[in-house]
Amino acid sequence: MRLLSPFSTTPSLNSRFAQLILLAAILTAAGWLYVSSFGGSGQTHIPLVTSHKGTHPIDTLIQDADRISKALLAQETTDVESAARVYRELRGRHPPPGFDIWFKFAQDNKAVIVEDFFDQIYHDLNPFWGVPAREIRQQANDFVHRISVRGGNVTQRTDIDQRPWMDLWQNLVQSIAQHLPDIDLAINVMDESRLVVPWETVDAYMGTEFKSRRLTPISDVVSKYSGLVDLDRVPPPPFDPEFLPYGPYWSLAVAGCPPGSPARSAPLETNFSTPPLLPPEYPLYSYQGYVSNWTLAKSPCDNPNLQGLHGTFVEPISTSTSKKLFPLFGGSKLPMNNEILLPPAMYWTSDPFYSGGAAHGGPWEEKLDKLIWRGAASGGRNTRDNWIRFQRHRFVSMMNGTSIQQAETSSQSPPNFDIPSYTAYQLTALRNGYLGDWVATFADTAFVHLLCFPDEGSELCSYTNPYYKVAKEMPMSEQYANKYLPDIDGNSFSGRYRGFLGSTSVPIKATIYNEWHDSRLVPWKHFIPMDNTFVDIYGIMDHFLGFRGIGGHDNAAKNIALDGKAWAEKVLRREDMQIYVLRLLLEYARICDDNRERMGWVEDLKA
Ligand SMILES: *[C@@H]1O[C@H](CO)[C@@H](O)[C@H](O)[C@H]1NC(C)=O
Ligand SMILES: *[C@@H]1O[C@H](CO)[C@@H](O)[C@H](O)[C@H]1NC(C)=O
Ligand SMILES: *[C@@H]1O[C@H](CO)[C@@H](O)[C@H](O)[C@H]1NC(C)=O
Ligand SMILES: *[C@@H]1O[C@H](CO)[C@@H](O)[C@H](O)[C@H]1NC(C)=O
Repeated sequence: MRLLSPFSTTPSLNSRFAQLILLAAILTAAGWLYVSSFGGSGQTHIPLVTSHKGTHPIDTLIQDADRISKALLAQETTDVESAARVYRELRGRHPPPGFDIWFKFAQDNKAVIVEDFFDQIYHDLNPFWGVPAREIRQQANDFVHRISVRGGNVTQRTDIDQRPWMDLWQNLVQSIAQHLPDIDLAINVMDESRLVVPWETVDAYMGTEFKSRRLTPISDVVSKYSGLVDLDRVPPPPFDPEFLPYGPYWSLAVAGCPPGSPARSAPLETNFSTPPLLPPEYPLYSYQGYVSNWTLAKSPCDNPNLQGLHGTFVEPISTSTSKKLFPLFGGSKLPMNNEILLPPAMYWTSDPFYSGGAAHGGPWEEKLDKLIWRGAASGGRNTRDNWIRFQRHRFVSMMNGTSIQQAETSSQSPPNFDIPSYTAYQLTALRNGYLGDWVATFADTAFVHLLCFPDEGSELCSYTNPYYKVAKEMPMSEQYANKYLPDIDGNSFSGRYRGFLGSTSVPIKATIYNEWHDSRLVPWKHFIPMDNTFVDIYGIMDHFLGFRGIGGHDNAAKNIALDGKAWAEKVLRREDMQIYVLRLLLEYARICDDNRERMGWVEDLKA
């Protein structure tokens, strides 16, 4: 898809802009603005600035988001009895033993307690009701990378001297260990997620889980954990997770998708040297071009084109996948993966490289009207034959005014993106080939390391040199001088996201990864969601920033930035990670217990 600029033969776009802005200033007052004096080619006149007759789709999405987040907050519980009641209604069982201690810990730490915030725990753990408890305990105990709790002491075992993530997670578990029964956690120390159990197998396990739901009569309830003395006395037999050797990931991953999902029937792509296939108009599942169902927008099962648009599928650095369900904990995963999510280790660190440190940015009004991104060209192993499909490469090119201008004025397609057609988004900048010029006014995106394969050093990469200029790293605190912070997946999720949410700038988020916090965050309320094709980015910026000072909604962007920050300070604190992990590990300990079907906390029912 390419729109040739009608001005490609005229000397200066900039002087045209000067005229345009002048005219805009005169004509907006009268409520009319046509491009007739510039359009030149006898096309139908299209209003430049529309006083949207209907509501702009983003306004509608923001209103919906407001409603959704109010409804979420309305579910807050403030005493353990109502929390337990909601638990039984939603989960179909008694809460796990220790629920009162968990609730008190949450309340003492001033948490907003909403049962939905813990949905991910049940999503992750429920399939394990289909596996015998003893098997789960044994698998975890034998796994090479392991964090163990015994009598409130936390230890770790791994294969090399030091693994920073192991240390961070050990520290997190230690911080709540006085409330925990004895457990072993098998830990994924890789960036990439590793379990894809076939959907049909998980479905059968979920069926077993559903059938095992009951509210055991109070007199039969077991309220103590059995512990792991059996394992500590006699070590378990070796457990082989049967990790498969490195290979293409898509065909393994789709086994985790529901049988009728688009990904299951999509043809396999193996040649990534051709330009990416982008949607000619709106992305799938959008509302008039903008993400309206975040779950669907993120899901590779529902977006088979992602197999050619994301490094995870194009060429991951490492894959080591098992099809067996065993209790492997990790920081992020794809919707079709079966890991048990912990808050990512990088969110527990105080290293300012990921956390942004104590600085959260100044007042909105003092920020630049700009979009900033700095990062490595990660996402997987980019090579001469596949780099044009990598998400970070695509995004940096799509935000590079020069490369867009080249695309607008030459007949040669850019290697890794398309100029969207005017017919879909109808943006002023697209109308007459001003996109590159406009994007150059606000976008500042650059790689800090090209991560070429084979390696040529941080600043050199023979096959991408013509397209990218390496910039210096910029601390997050400096990035916060800009209003807009896009956040794009690397080899897996992006570790800066929590810092971005807590800043006074507004994150623009695209991802295919799930994290512990997903049910806490409402798209369009706490962050701006972006499709993984990025074709909506120009429309997003046109709406919030406006076109050269006209028609922006700065206040709406500011609200999302500040609502997101205030919310992060309520539900994404370090305390909130501890509260999540305590709840998770009580549930996990129950699932590992031979008495699990009868275990529960029922003190509230005894009164
Ligand atoms: C926990 O650690 C303390 C101090 O090292 C030790 O005295 C105690 O025996 C340990 N408890 C268990 C159950 O290992
Ligand atoms: C991939 O496709 C391109 C363009 O069709 C072709 O030139 C190239 O040989 C293909 N590569 C492989 C490994 O098949
Ligand atoms: C998103 O789509 C899924 C699948 O159709 C649906 O179950 C879910 O309720 C939708 N979510 C929202 C917020 O509309
Ligand atoms: C922007 O694109 C041009 C042309 O492709 C390239 O020369 C330049 O290095 C790019 N800038 C950055 C910051 O990557």
